[in-house]
Amino acid sequence: RATADARGLTIVITAGPTREAIDPVRYLSNHSSGKMGYALAEAAVRRGATVKLISGPVSLDTPPGVERLDVESAQEMFEASRRLAEQSDVFIGCAAVADYRVEHVAEHKLKKTAERDDLTLKLAKNPDIIAEIAALDRRIRPFVVGFAAETRDLEAYARDKLLRKGLDMIVANDVSQEGLGFGADHNAALLLWRDDDRSPGRRELPAQTKQTLASAVFEAILERLTASHET
Ligand code: C5P
Repeated sequence: RATADARGLTIVITAGPTREAIDPVRYLSNHSSGKMGYALAEAAVRRGATVKLISGPVSLDTPPGVERLDVESAQEMFEASRRLAEQSDVFIGCAAVADYRVEHVAEHKLKKTAERDDLTLKLAKNPDIIAEIAALDRRIRPFVVGFAAETRDLEAYARDKLLRKGLDMIVANDVSQEGLGFGADHNAALLLWRDDDRSPGRRELPAQTKQTLASAVFEAILERLTASHET
């Protein structure tokens, strides 16, 4: 089967972790490697799309032909996403965005004190980037694809996220399986998308390298995008 053509389409992808500053030398973050988002960027550019990759701090090379914008915090990722999403056809939220940031970032390095054995950091909720993009006015709203990493009840949680965040499609990963998902080179996925009838469409993609999985996911995105334009 010929690979679908994505020429003329602009795809915005978020990838990697975010870093939430505590003070000038410390931060809160997570173990996201960025591999899946980068693999998707590569798959999209290979099919001729214009790809803008909004990346948290990762140690990966930028795939050739991809326009990369580096960000650190969720707030920065949100601002870049909002700016770029408006001119895009597809928005893929692959980043592991920190749900919370430190409410008051210390101006100077926090000091250990002799008087106390504990320290309390107050956290504030970060914006849900993908939900905000999905809520844009339909005239400027791209086709929105999210990710869900779950350790149990994969389909039920993913379905809930698809509906609650107002996404068009969700790529769900079972991260309890050893060697798959977070940081790994392989992944399996369950794709769910909004359909006309009440139950979402679904497709299971078996365990494979993140590169081939990314191609299959991107292929499915193009199919659904075409279908949504036809209705
Ligand atoms: O709710 P949860 O974090 O599991 O949802 C995952 C999906 O939501 C991913 O697509 C992720 O990129 C996106 N997300 C986001 N902004 C957040 C949290 C998650 O865009 N603050």
